Amino acid sequence: MKKVITYGTFDLLHEGHLKLLQRAKALGDYLIVGVTSDSFDRGRGKLNVKNNVLERVASVKATGYADEIIIEDYLGQKIDDIQRFDVDVFAIGSDWEGKFDYLKEYCEVVYLPRTEGISSTMLRERQDAVYRFGIVGSGRMARRFIPEAKVVNGIEICSVYNPAESAEAFAEEFGLACWSDNYEEFLESVEAVYIASPHLSHYEYAKRALSAGKHVLCEIPFCLKRSQAEELFALAASKNLVILEAGKTAFCPSFNHLLTLVKSGIIGEVVDVKTSLSKMVSAPTRELDATQAGGAFNEHSPLPLMAVIKLLGSEYSDFQFHSKVENGVDIYTKLDLNYPHATSSITLGIGVKTEGNMVISGTKGYVYVPAPWWLTSFFEIRYEDQSRNRKYFYSWDGDGLRYEIQEFMSMIVNGRKNSYKLRHEESEAICGIIENFNSKVNYKEL
Ligand code: CTP
Repeated sequence: MKKVITYGTFDLLHEGHLKLLQRAKALGDYLIVGVTSDSFDRGRGKLNVKNNVLERVASVKATGYADEIIIEDYLGQKIDDIQRFDVDVFAIGSDWEGKFDYLKEYCEVVYLPRTEGISSTMLRERQDAVYRFGIVGSGRMARRFIPEAKVVNGIEICSVYNPAESAEAFAEEFGLACWSDNYEEFLESVEAVYIASPHLSHYEYAKRALSAGKHVLCEIPFCLKRSQAEELFALAASKNLVILEAGKTAFCPSFNHLLTLVKSGIIGEVVDVKTSLSKMVSAPTRELDATQAGGAFNEHSPLPLMAVIKLLGSEYSDFQFHSKVENGVDIYTKLDLNYPHATSSITLGIGVKTEGNMVISGTKGYVYVPAPWWLTSFFEIRYEDQSRNRKYFYSWDGDGLRYEIQEFMSMIVNGRKNSYKLRHEESEAICGIIENFNSKVNYKEL
């Protein structure tokens, strides 16, 4: 008996799936269909699947082509399945041409013609209400945002704003319908904005967008003053709009899993958090320009502060900054932030290289997250008795912005104004600490 195996998500089952299954079945006598589990799809960054795994299995079953249906739940499973089920042919659509050649060591690999003009993505887009997004700024973050937004349902990026450089070239490169160098005109064409402009402009752009009735997703540092953050949240509430700080690590599944493990007491009571982040840059650049709020702290502190505040709260008792300054900006800053029950420290460099890891020490054990901890693709829970240590691995898709975009969209669609992943109070506390740094409160120069 010739056994054939194929895999897919099979979301909103369509004509293309039917033809693929029919062709795969015709390659042999017995067809096994692997349907991805919900967590496997989420883990590989496919966040927009509509049908859950039970529904997807049921629709594959209803086609009548599958002799057996299995669940695909982990990376590398295909090799295991092919050997376990003694499979003769692995078949997949031609959109994967070449990607599965490594399976030729185990069985025959066949790329079947893909049906043109239909896909689950297309059907999902037809189902969803689509929100018109505009990007404020056309730099590095804006470029990353566009491919990431594509994997989230309900977003159409239709415009870009930039007062200085030409937004036109950016719009053309990414196929956006509009561009503008006039902010009011730009706001008229969109329902929500992603602010990825230089630090000093965040507050002003966010305020004007909210005043014009637009939802706001704002890059880090959200604001450089606590009062500005409070004002923006109050303004958004008064206008029934969503505003969210785009602190990407706070929204990624691996970091959230780490938090829930720690909060559930896996390392006992948390007594210390040490975290670090550095990226070397060379002048001339905005990051080293004092007039543009450059420097290690403004540039790098929001994510480490988020992690400390998530783990220890915002009721700290005392703090001290130590900075090494060159040409008016801190090329290195260490913040010690102490709590009545715990200590923490954050080490940041822009002209000094630091390790970039995070260690959370508790009364029963500790968590080690290697550099770059803010991508959290791996962490280990360690104990005195090393046989109890556990390692956790995650795949991090793309640039990881998709998780914050998905949360932002879910807040808009469901009318949710606050996110437990990064609460307004937490964003305000982060801005408050940044303000203290810039006002040189408890500040010593090295
Ligand atoms: N497939 C196909 N023709 C299509 C769509 C899918 O032959 N028009 C095949 C894929 O190549 C794959 C299988 O169907 O072998 C399952 O693909 P899946 O990823 O579930 O389908 P898509 O519609 O491509 O889903 P998405 O848009 O989410 O990527």
